[in-house]
Amino acid sequence: MLKVEKLVVRYGAVTAVRELSLEVGQGELVALLGPNGAGKSSTINALTGLVTPASGRIVLDGKDISHVRTEDRIRAGLTATPEGRHIFSNLSVGENLRLGAATRRDPAGVRQDIERFLSLFPVLSERFGQAAGTLSGGEQQMLAIARSLMSRPKLLLLDEPSLGLAPKIVARIFDFIGELKAQGLTLLVVEQNAKQALRFADRVYVVSSGTLRYDGPPARLADEHGLFNLYIGG
Ligand SMILES: Nc1ncnc2c1ncn2[C@@H]1O[C@H](COP(=O)(O)OP(=O)(O)OP(=O)(O)O)[C@@H](O)[C@H]1O
Ligand SMILES: [Mg+2]
Repeated sequence: MLKVEKLVVRYGAVTAVRELSLEVGQGELVALLGPNGAGKSSTINALTGLVTPASGRIVLDGKDISHVRTEDRIRAGLTATPEGRHIFSNLSVGENLRLGAATRRDPAGVRQDIERFLSLFPVLSERFGQAAGTLSGGEQQMLAIARSLMSRPKLLLLDEPSLGLAPKIVARIFDFIGELKAQGLTLLVVEQNAKQALRFADRVYVVSSGTLRYDGPPARLADEHGLFNLYIGG
């Protein structure tokens, strides 16, 4: 479904991503792991079009989207939940959800999807008219993911969904990610919490200093203690 070829991301003199190639197949959950500053968010942001790569190709369903605008990538089925949630704090929960559907032209379907997420996350229903900034961290992350899903993506990119959350909430969020996978969604998940990310991952990429260090099944990564300790730890 997604094919990234020799992606390079630079910020001035800093090269954050060095000829990174990766693939995500239909229905797969792929984990992208690595230490702080490895280039994970830069990769995700290049995939959504938030940053412009210095070189490389991004191919979605056989179509080169490297130069396609972010909103057209969303229309093509690629949506991300960025690191740090980025919900609109001053807007209500409902307005946040509706904004996630900004590229859609089927108001009835949008209303249905909102109902679906409200029954899935009752707390969002209770807080529907309340400013999103007043939700707890875990609730905001649920909202951020639900908002991304409002665009009906085929491929969802999640950048550190567990960041700053209590272990119990993290487990709940990953349970939900597992459900999304079971429903057939394709996912690329960036995580510091390797244990949670590896629970549902079909395949894993490990990057450090913008360079790919590992590509394979989670089981083999767990066997390669040296690699695990070097780049992930824990
Ligand atoms: N806007 C920017 N301007 C300059 N340098 C940047 C910018 N964004 C990221 N970098 C640098 O690029 C490198 C990769 O950063 P990136 O955010 O992609 O890492 P990451 O793997 O997501 O790290 P973390 O786990 O801490 O989120 C880092 O050295 C970072 O300082
Ligand atoms: Mg990051």
